Amino acid sequence: MSTPQESGGRSVRVGLPAGRLPGVLPAPPWDEPALGEIIVPADALQARVAELGAAITVDYADRPPLLVGVLKGACLFLSDLARAINLPVEMDFMAVSSYGSATRTSGVVRIVKDLDIDLSGRDVLIVEDIVDSGLTLAFLRRNLLARHPRSLAVCALLVKEGLQSIPLDLAYEGFRIPPEFVVGYGLDVAERYRNLPFICHFREEIGLPPGPLEAGG
Ligand code: IMP
Ligand code: MG
Repeated sequence: MSTPQESGGRSVRVGLPAGRLPGVLPAPPWDEPALGEIIVPADALQARVAELGAAITVDYADRPPLLVGVLKGACLFLSDLARAINLPVEMDFMAVSSYGSATRTSGVVRIVKDLDIDLSGRDVLIVEDIVDSGLTLAFLRRNLLARHPRSLAVCALLVKEGLQSIPLDLAYEGFRIPPEFVVGYGLDVAERYRNLPFICHFREEIGLPPGPLEAGG
């Protein structure tokens, strides 16, 4: 387990059970009060992504998948995952936006950017950053199934425990995490923190510091 010194003084809690690889943490790039405990350290993310890529390589050996990344949250996960898959995959991206508050989804989803590639007859693997209520995923699954892929499966990096009232049926899942708002490795609050190399708790009660525009830059 990491020492307080290794974690830059920040306490550490590793998402369980799928990943189980505590390790040395990088120093936090910014010291912002709203950034809380690290939930999944960077090296655990990288190790788990390598495992997922290896599993996908075996499962899809005779039918290289079309990876469908859900923007923007899945962008870092998809770029690492694709490099961990030893098959000639193709990639396409979709952007959806859910009506609701900044940190809660309403389940009413709108397609902001659609796919370019025709899914009919393809083996499609949806690559999602995080499953919270599961409503976004349920929408995506319905929407993509209507395009007649040969198969449709889901690879989600994070699943919040205990929040889904509908069965998720995930073929691949990275980490189960507590049902708290998290940022990093693609996940944002108001477009911030996507480039953190780890996943950490975002303390909603503290909120964001002033952005570049408000700071008078
Ligand atoms: P769901 O429809 O409730 O499952 O929400 C899924 C979407 O909400 C994800 O694809 C994320 O874009 C966003 N989301 C849910 N929880 C978090 C979080 O803790 N941090 C950042 N984004 C989140
Ligand atoms: Mg998302």
